[in-house]
Amino acid sequence: MDNTEEFFWGASISATQTEGFHRYNFRGVSIWDEFLKKRKIDTSGIEFSSCDFVKHYEQDILKLKSLGFQHFRFSISWAHIQPLGEGMFNNLAVKYYKNVILFCKKNNIEPWITLYHWDLPENLEKLGGWSNRLILHYFEMYVKQIYQTFGTEVKNWIVLNEPSVFTAAGYLLGIHAPGKKGLKNYLPALHHSVLAQSIGINYLKKYPQNYVGTSLHFGDIAPYSKNRFDQKAANQVHTLMNRMFLEPLLGMGYPKNLRSFYKRLSVHIRPGDDKLMQCKPDFIGAQIYTRHFIKYNPIQPYLKVKVIKPKKLQLETTAMGWENYPNAVGNVLNWLSIYENLPEIVITENGIALEDEMNGNEILDNTRIEYLEHALNCIKIARQNQIPVRGYFVWSLLDNFEWMELFRPRFGIIYVDFKTKVRTIKHSGYWLKNYIKENLKM
Ligand code: BGC
Repeated sequence: MDNTEEFFWGASISATQTEGFHRYNFRGVSIWDEFLKKRKIDTSGIEFSSCDFVKHYEQDILKLKSLGFQHFRFSISWAHIQPLGEGMFNNLAVKYYKNVILFCKKNNIEPWITLYHWDLPENLEKLGGWSNRLILHYFEMYVKQIYQTFGTEVKNWIVLNEPSVFTAAGYLLGIHAPGKKGLKNYLPALHHSVLAQSIGINYLKKYPQNYVGTSLHFGDIAPYSKNRFDQKAANQVHTLMNRMFLEPLLGMGYPKNLRSFYKRLSVHIRPGDDKLMQCKPDFIGAQIYTRHFIKYNPIQPYLKVKVIKPKKLQLETTAMGWENYPNAVGNVLNWLSIYENLPEIVITENGIALEDEMNGNEILDNTRIEYLEHALNCIKIARQNQIPVRGYFVWSLLDNFEWMELFRPRFGIIYVDFKTKVRTIKHSGYWLKNYIKENLKM
């Protein structure tokens, strides 16, 4: 690894999670507004404006800068900027996002924009959302318009955030917006998001100054036992979670080892899609949090697998119920390094959720410090081993709306009081500041 090059130190947030549910700037209705309504969650309370980032972005960017970060990753909410998912952009929202970008630039902070972090305009969901191939047309129009609006100021682009998660949770299991279930919704959503990734990448890469990628969720998948059924089950989950979205980006097409799954998926693949899937991202955004133990389960309908909860295995867990396992970062990076045609890697999310509490006016989050120290050490080793990791973005700059977990798990290095909106830098934030200073180039 040539460590004379700049290493990106940054922090990440997303729009819905920090802007919350208030309809600022005549924001349109997104699938998350509708999904929470269906689940009878009243989003009108003060805490549902989350961090109220719309009104506090200046102080948040200044805090990020004071901690030594030079990069800031945030998303544009599709429903905020284009309320109906097509047509003219909402001028008030354009002005707001432009102000955020300009404020970053004024403070020498590089903005990284995620184009889609899960907030589809409800109007497009009414047409079937990601399950309807028409989404490709709307998404392409949206990407072009975003670039035409912000392209002179922004050069770092992340096309999608974790398509494996928003398609599986939102269109297969029904536990995230839009709450749909079943393979008939999931398989087309999966294929369309793979195509959308490359459509977005190819468009943005037409402009040579851009640095373009997309962010994928990677889990460290482990078999529950050495038994060959568990091994096979783990391998299947690994394919689905880790390889399905990555390999098309590397020009390899879909993995074909899940034969019956692939057969069903191919119903949605049209002639010419192989070509449409071709793209050359500058980087893969890797989002790594934990390890998952997988067991064979003959009664589960699709893959015959079961995820064994870490608590059951008496492992230390986080506020998400995930295993506190920072080594996942090292294991995933080692696995990624087996791909010969791998582009640069930027860790676009990594962090840990705790139930942080104020202690006087401090937040003593030692568990987070330990987790981060381990994870960062894995990155250091990976770089020594020539794995091309170019940057690290902690998740998250701020405590925020954690989807269906609402506000309980806190991922931030900055604590947010959701009632008063007061921010307090946690001990982990100060710790990271020091770490960055001492490891600028990693
Ligand atoms: C998502 C974030 C989320 C985080 C922790 C990632 O899957 O991109 O929006 O807050 O994980 O759950």
